[in-house]
Amino acid sequence: AATTILALITGYLLGSIPFGLLLTRWTGKGDIRDIGSGNIGATNVLRTGSKGLAAATLLLDLAKGAAAVLIAQQLWPDAVNYAAAGALIGHLYPAWLKFKGGKGVATLLGILLPLFWQAALVYVLLWAGLLLIIRISSIAGMAAAASAPVTAAILQVQALFPMLLGFALLVIWQHRENIRRLARGEEPRVGKTG
Ligand code: G3P
Repeated sequence: AATTILALITGYLLGSIPFGLLLTRWTGKGDIRDIGSGNIGATNVLRTGSKGLAAATLLLDLAKGAAAVLIAQQLWPDAVNYAAAGALIGHLYPAWLKFKGGKGVATLLGILLPLFWQAALVYVLLWAGLLLIIRISSIAGMAAAASAPVTAAILQVQALFPMLLGFALLVIWQHRENIRRLARGEEPRVGKTG
C-alpha cells in the first residue's frame, strides 16, 4: 500500500514536469499554450520554429516516463504499473497547469521502453513510419498509442494489457480536438506552419 502510493506520487511528480512549456519559456519564445494547437508537446514546440527545442521536448518528455518506470523497478518492483500510470496521468493532467497538460505520445513511449520493449519497438516503428509517410503527428501518435495494447494482446502479456488499453484510450481522448480538425480536414502537417 505504501509502495503503491509512493510509486504513484513519484510517477505523477515526474510526469507532470511540463518540459515543452518550460523550455519555450526559458528560451524566450513566450507561452507555448498561445501557439499553434496550444499543446505543450514536441509537435507544437516545433511550430515555434525551433527543431532543437522540439527534439529536447520529445526526449525529456520521453525520459520522464522512462525514469518513473526505472525508479519503480529498482525501489518498488511490485508497484511499477502505478509509477507508469502516475507518469502518464501527471503528463496529461498536471496540477501546476490547472490539470491541462499534454497528449502523452512521447511520455507513453518513455514508459514502454523499460516496461515492455517489444511494445516500444512496434510503437516507434509505427509512429516514425506514419509520421514520415503522412506527416500528421496526431494520427501517428494515436496509432502508436493504440498499438501498445494490441502488442500486449498478441504477445499475451496479461499483466499489462488492461493498463495499456486504458493508456491508449486516454491518449486518444486527449487528441479529441485533433480528431475534430482531422474530420474537418484542417489538421496541419508536420514541417508546415499552421
Ligand atoms: O503528441 C501530440 C501530437 O500527437 C499532436 O500535437 O500540437 O498537433 O496537437 P498537436
